[in-house]
Amino acid sequence: MPGMDERLPANVRRDQDPGGRDLLRLEHEGDVVEVARCGAQVLRWLRAGKDVLWTASQPKYATGQPVRGGVPLVFPWFGDHPDGGKLPAHGFARTQTWQLVHANDTPEVVLECVDDDATRAMWPHTFRLRLSVVLGAKLRLGLTIENTGAAPFTCEQALHTYFAVGDVHSATVHGLEGVPCTEQASAPEAKWDPKQPLHFRAETDRIFQGVPDRLELRAPALSRTIVLQTTGAQSAIVWNPWPAKTARLSQMAPGDWQRFCCIESANVRAQAVTIAPGESHALSLRLDCRDGDD
Ligand code: BG6
Repeated sequence: MPGMDERLPANVRRDQDPGGRDLLRLEHEGDVVEVARCGAQVLRWLRAGKDVLWTASQPKYATGQPVRGGVPLVFPWFGDHPDGGKLPAHGFARTQTWQLVHANDTPEVVLECVDDDATRAMWPHTFRLRLSVVLGAKLRLGLTIENTGAAPFTCEQALHTYFAVGDVHSATVHGLEGVPCTEQASAPEAKWDPKQPLHFRAETDRIFQGVPDRLELRAPALSRTIVLQTTGAQSAIVWNPWPAKTARLSQMAPGDWQRFCCIESANVRAQAVTIAPGESHALSLRLDCRDGDD
């Protein structure tokens, strides 16, 4: 990150991931967060020496590719491109190289990504994305999408967070009871009670719309509860691929599905955001990892 070295505070350091890619390492009272410039992807959050986020057991740290784990960013479309063509799933934000534009000793880093010829060939709009990562007792992520062009655009976006749960069979998600949802899994649980906390009993790929700002993930196998507090996120996607889909996914070993779930803080489908020229949309996620499972 040329030009930034001399301005980095002592608790923000340049480092490299196992693939030699640039990352920023933030430290606060023994806790650590690592943010790769590729995709502005949070790769790890070590709290009290333990990983809160999950990483696949065969991770690939390659330029222009997301690692399966941590917090990949989804923008400007969610899932497969609506035209069904050859464009990358979940858009291009997670594969672009972002620039560090600010660092302070909170510690906080802000990375930025703007449109270029390659993004405009896939999506004909001009934009500025900024991701702020703040490490304290909690981890705070803030994604701001600014329309720098002359016409409005509509986009989907998500913080696609992979959480370590130890054993997904005992993990539960609280706060989505009774929230309208669409199940996209090809082999989902035959029947579940939408009024009960979400349990993982089969492939799960549910898009919830009109979600509350506070959700809880309980992971008794790790004796931890994670509280997710969002602003500007109307959607949540809860995902676990179960064994059959795991076999088709990159970077995963066969048993990996048992140890994680994703809860994505998002605006997708009917909640896609339209941003007028010169305007922005901000989505934030604050993660509070507590010991204990209730
Ligand atoms: C989730 C989708 O957001 O991301 C799943 O709901 C998808 O359907 C998953 O499988 C992983 O996507 P990718 O592109 O990172 O393999």
